[in-house]
Amino acid sequence: MTTPLLTFGPTLETGVPALDEDHRALVALANRLHELHSGPYDLVDGVNALSELASEATRHFGREEAMMREHGYPLQPEHQTEHRNIAAELEKVLAEYAEGHYRGTEGAIENYFKFWILDHVSNQDMKLGEFLRRLTGPR
Ligand SMILES: [Fe+2]
Ligand SMILES: [Fe+2]
Repeated sequence: MTTPLLTFGPTLETGVPALDEDHRALVALANRLHELHSGPYDLVDGVNALSELASEATRHFGREEAMMREHGYPLQPEHQTEHRNIAAELEKVLAEYAEGHYRGTEGAIENYFKFWILDHVSNQDMKLGEFLRRLTGPR
């Protein structure tokens, strides 16, 4: 059993069920990629796992942005800019990965995911979660 790359815990929890469910799924996908890399993996398996992570992330960004719009979230522009940057980076990394660019340096790509998930969720998504929780009141 490989040690997970990420653990979904209080530092990633926004308290908004729709967001937390998505984030939990992204963490699971990042861990699956890490698990694959820990064994004698096949590049095609890696590409599949990574593209699933990338497309799930993109769908998730769309869902968050729809929530922001619906509730008139004031920090939407800066939050959305971060999503755009991450999505562009993911696309680039995925293309490089598919070309075998990260053979032997899989840890680098994993640390990149680890960083953006931790950084984006614990900063931007946490602020969004606070805003949404204030709208719905204490649960
Ligand atoms: Fe998010
Ligand atoms: Fe976000």
